[in-house]
This record gives sequence, structure tokens and C-alpha cells, in this order.
Amino acid sequence: MNTAASVHWHLLGAGNMGTLAASRLLHAGYPVQALHPQARPIDRTLSRNDQPMESLRLAVDPDGPVQYLLLALKGPQTRPALDALLPRLANDVLILCLQNGMGMLDDVALPGGARILHAITTDGAWRDGNTVHVVAENSTEVGGMNSLPDALEPLPACWPGWQWRADIAPAQWRKLAINAVINPLTALYDCRNGDLLDQGPRQAHLAKLAGEIDAALPHWLEHWPGNTTQLAETVAQQTAGNTSSMRADWLAGRETEIDFINGYLVRCASRHGIELPAHRGVLEKLSRRPH
Ligand code: PAF
Repeated sequence: MNTAASVHWHLLGAGNMGTLAASRLLHAGYPVQALHPQARPIDRTLSRNDQPMESLRLAVDPDGPVQYLLLALKGPQTRPALDALLPRLANDVLILCLQNGMGMLDDVALPGGARILHAITTDGAWRDGNTVHVVAENSTEVGGMNSLPDALEPLPACWPGWQWRADIAPAQWRKLAINAVINPLTALYDCRNGDLLDQGPRQAHLAKLAGEIDAALPHWLEHWPGNTTQLAETVAQQTAGNTSSMRADWLAGRETEIDFINGYLVRCASRHGIELPAHRGVLEKLSRRPH
């Protein structure tokens, strides 16, 4: 059996979620190095309740082999970064994906024995320079394989709210459904999540997107509960003051994750002969760069 100290992790994407997950790996006793174009170490401070709680220094590994990969990049950055990393990936590399959206690995020629796990989290954090402010440590559903690999056994004890799911697809689609409603609308209407609950045109738009999801998903996912309006309204309420990640990217002029959220949904639906006009509408509007 592997002990944590002999299982070397590499982190790709030292943003909010990547930093929080790296800290949990370190607490579980794993060595963690970063993969980054710059050579100098990555320094981060984790802050909870505005109190600096923990400092992390991740050395950058410029050329070593990669056996355990924590993938926490944004959707659009994923393929170019992984393509560049392919020569370093072990044939049986284990990739733990902690990302918004779906389909980021679909066009990457991963090694034949690659194993993929997905982590779907409701944790929340935001970053200000090198400080990651952790605002919520809720739950993370992890899975996509029949059982937890031996090498990961120390991890659940150090990851608050960890829940193992051999079948991770329902959790992935639940998260994608919420993101496919809240994220484009907050970017389009330039508002905070809670402002979608206006009892007017924004909430009607929300219900329209949610209704298309509930009509389409049962065509390829069994037991979809068909409650997307309620799910999205609840999350908008719980995160009322937040700026969604897509609104933040849009305002900053960065490429958004829409192609891996609404785009992925529209492509799945069209493979089943289903058109999603409201999703296509937001996709077209937000695929153009804002600046
Ligand atoms: O992407 C995001 O910003 C978040 O997943 C969510 C739930 C929409 C809250 O802001």
C-alpha cells in the first residue's frame, strides 16, 4: 500500500480551488509541487474569516514525471496546458479534476492507462493577490471510478465534506445545470447572483434556461429530478452577494468558461436531436470577447 509521503502530487492551476485542495493534500502528508511556466515557487496564504491561517510554498517542478495530477485550471486553459504536459504524464497517471464545466479532457490525447477522478465542490473562495480567502467549506463529491484508489486513502480525512461517488455523473450534471443558468445570466445582466431573483425578466430568463435543461437531460441521464429552477434559485439565494466566476471573467475581458458549460450542454443535446434555443442564445452573446 502507498503511504502518502511516497505519492507525489503535481498541481496545475494554483487559483482559489487549486490552492485550497493543495493545502488539503499537504495536510494528508503528500508532497505537492506546482506545474507552472515560471520557475520561482508559488506562495499563497489561506485566510479564513479574514484571518491568515496558513502559508503555502509550492516549488515548481520544471521537468519531472507526473503520476498524480490535481487539475484545477479553468476550462479554456486546460487543453493547451495538458497538451504541453503529455510527454511528462505517466501511462497510468491519476488526474483529479477540480473544475467548472464538462468536456475539458475530451480532445486531449491522454496516455492509455490514465485514470480520471472528478471532484464537484460547493466550497467557495476568492483570491486577492497571493491571498486565498476561504468563504465556505461545504461538501465535495469525488468519484468516477469503482473505488477510491489506495493512494488516495489518507485524503478524505483531511478534506472537509468529502463524499465518495462511484458514479459521479449526476453530481457533475447538477453542478453544470446550476452553472449553465446562474453564470451566463449574471454576466449578461451584469449583476450579482441574488439579483437574478427579481420576480421579473431575469427570473423569467432563469426559468427558461432551467426548463430547457430539465426537458433535455432525461434523454441521456437517468433519474434527473427535473428541479433546475429550484436548484438555481436556491444557489442564487445562498450566494446572493457573489459575483459569479463567469461575470468576473467577462468583466475582466478574459475568455469565459461558457463553451464548457452551456456549449457542452448544447452539444450533448444536439447529439440527441434536441435544440436548446435559450442556451444557444446566451452562448452566442457571451462567446464574443467583451473588450
Ligand atoms: O461559478 C460560480 O461562480 C459558482 O459555481 C456559482 C455557484 C455560480 C456561485 O457564484
